[in-house]
Amino acid sequence: MVLKIVSVVGARPQFVKSAVVSRVLGEDDAFSEVMIHTGQHYDDDMSEIFFRELSIPAPAYNLSIGSSSHGAQTGRMLQAIEEVLLKEEPDWVLIYGDTNSTLAGALAASKIHIPVAHVEAGLRSFNRRMPEEQNRIVADHLSTLLLTPTQSATENLFREGVSQQQVEQIGDVMFDATLFAQQRERSGPNAVERHDLEAGRYVLSTIHRAENTDNLPRLRAILHGLASVAQQLPVVLPLHPRTRKLIQEQPELEKLSQCLKLLEPVGYFDMVDLEAGAAVIATDSGGVQKEAYFNSKPCVTLRDETEWVELVDLGWNTLQPPTSAEAVEAAILGAVGSEGTKTGAPYGHGESGALVAAAIKEHMGSPTK
Ligand code: UD1
Ligand code: UDP
Repeated sequence: MVLKIVSVVGARPQFVKSAVVSRVLGEDDAFSEVMIHTGQHYDDDMSEIFFRELSIPAPAYNLSIGSSSHGAQTGRMLQAIEEVLLKEEPDWVLIYGDTNSTLAGALAASKIHIPVAHVEAGLRSFNRRMPEEQNRIVADHLSTLLLTPTQSATENLFREGVSQQQVEQIGDVMFDATLFAQQRERSGPNAVERHDLEAGRYVLSTIHRAENTDNLPRLRAILHGLASVAQQLPVVLPLHPRTRKLIQEQPELEKLSQCLKLLEPVGYFDMVDLEAGAAVIATDSGGVQKEAYFNSKPCVTLRDETEWVELVDLGWNTLQPPTSAEAVEAAILGAVGSEGTKTGAPYGHGESGALVAAAIKEHMGSPTK
């Protein structure tokens, strides 16, 4: 019997994660995958480039939902995903992470009693103001199979009363993704060379979280802090379109950003190469925090909390709420040359994609919520 999986993706980190799993599903005759792209991200450098680089088959459905307020965006996705699910009648719906596309996929499927498997289940920031925290809590509690990346994620679910039978700790598919990028065949100069950078002599930064971009004092603290760092080390900032728009609205920030090396969003392979060459990574991204660790780079997380607590415990990640430019600058310069410890395999062994497929087979026939 062939298991029909409908996977729902829509935002940049979901393309990276689903590339790993789609590769495994595509090589296994036991599965057929139908992909829905909600269209939450739509610029070429936020979407299409990942499909090209990572050889992800073109989605069967592109819902072209685009940007809008949370309610409008999620509502439109819900309606459109439901239509596809009623037509396709899959055995499982596969969702990733904590975006509005994740929430819409979970809701659409569970309402019509299709079992949901959630990759990257169990993460918690314990900050309910974050849209991602709201999305993950609802998605987890609507899912039949919760695939956790870490021990702390597994424990979070047990604390919330999720039954042990529903949880499989499979490690982090993003570790598989990084290994794939590192082992690929290469030709021509890499991103570090192309951007005239010197390996080990620059700071790589990404900023896009609503709590930083939609809060002017925090955005100012981050950009002033990065500009101060740039007096000593070049700072490279591939800019999420959300952040670029907000900077462009503030002449002060636009002027300030001239001392930074601003880039358009880069492709995944370039990003992994820029991470590998950085002295320090300063970010508010979830994925980039872990990629810093996969590349053995110190990371400063410009947030009040992180879901990836093991990296703080191991000494690779420093949490620095962006409350002032001085605090941001000191945290980044203080991280130069620092190292944490590498004990155990907090994100698994690079086989998480295969473990997703194995878990779905094993849980076939599990009751839906
Ligand atoms: C979303 C996720 C966030 C994730 C991030 C990954 C939610 C609530 N948030 O945040 O968890 O970390 O994706 O990158 O789902 N825009 C463009 N072009 C695009 C996409 C977005 O210009 O291709 C601009 C639009 O102005 C849009 C804004 O970015 O309004 C925000 O996009 P949206 O998808 O709503 O949220 P992200 O900040 O990307
Ligand atoms: N990424 C990328 N190009 C960029 C910025 C990020 O390829 O310009 C990749 C990054 O390497 C990681 C993923 O996008 O694999 C993380 O996505 P993002 O930071 O947008 O979202 P988050 O992980 O915070 O949800």
